[in-house]
Amino acid sequence: MIVAIDGPSGSGKSSIAHAIADRFGLTFLDTGAMYRSVAAECLRMGVDPEDAEAVAGVARDIAIEFGASEDGQTVTANGRDVTAEIRTPKVELAVSPVSANPAVREVMVGLQRKVGKAGDVVAEGRDIGTVVFPAADVKVFLTASPEARARRRAVQRSGGNLAQDSAATADPEEERRILADLKRRDDYDSSRATSPLRPAEDAVIIDSSDMGFEDVVAKIASLSPALAAHH
Ligand code: DC
Repeated sequence: MIVAIDGPSGSGKSSIAHAIADRFGLTFLDTGAMYRSVAAECLRMGVDPEDAEAVAGVARDIAIEFGASEDGQTVTANGRDVTAEIRTPKVELAVSPVSANPAVREVMVGLQRKVGKAGDVVAEGRDIGTVVFPAADVKVFLTASPEARARRRAVQRSGGNLAQDSAATADPEEERRILADLKRRDDYDSSRATSPLRPAEDAVIIDSSDMGFEDVVAKIASLSPALAAHH
């Protein structure tokens, strides 16, 4: 069983994929965390994220491992815990050129397919349904308006949880900054030459702008009898 969830940043892919993994007993594969880990290792080693050759070398040698803690998933890169570091603005900036690098993508896609071979997986990213697992049992393209995505991120950063409190709010200034950054990343991710962000032809497009968390999970669960049977 492979469930592919793609979509732009801030569409809620991570929390949705996490919930699907928990409820249906699938392994959760956060492919964005893998590109972020390569970016973090480049920064640690003093490798320029724009230096395609050197970055490819870092990707070929990297060992990425996922673990679990009380707060959620942990990530180690070359034995170093990078769970918090990969979410910092520094890494966020470096990850765009790193993930646009075709040699890096080739290595990461190979690692992701290995995880898929080993068992039942819900993978989230940008190219899961189009490139990594084109034969996935369920393909979802999860999207939401830039404004809705910026709001969710801002609320999340200020410690709120829209899944539990749909009226939670965030600092408007912070929200504006996040919106600008989201738009920049959307442009970059959808215009790059290698694996640009686009829905697979057979993906079910879910616009979650006006949907609650549980509605999205239920919608995805309803897409496959196998998913229900798996429960
Ligand atoms: O989903 P995220 O924000 O953690 O992704 C981080 C970056 O990696 C983002 O710039 C898009 C890129 N990415 C990608 O190119 N392909 C994937 N499968 C996952 C993420």
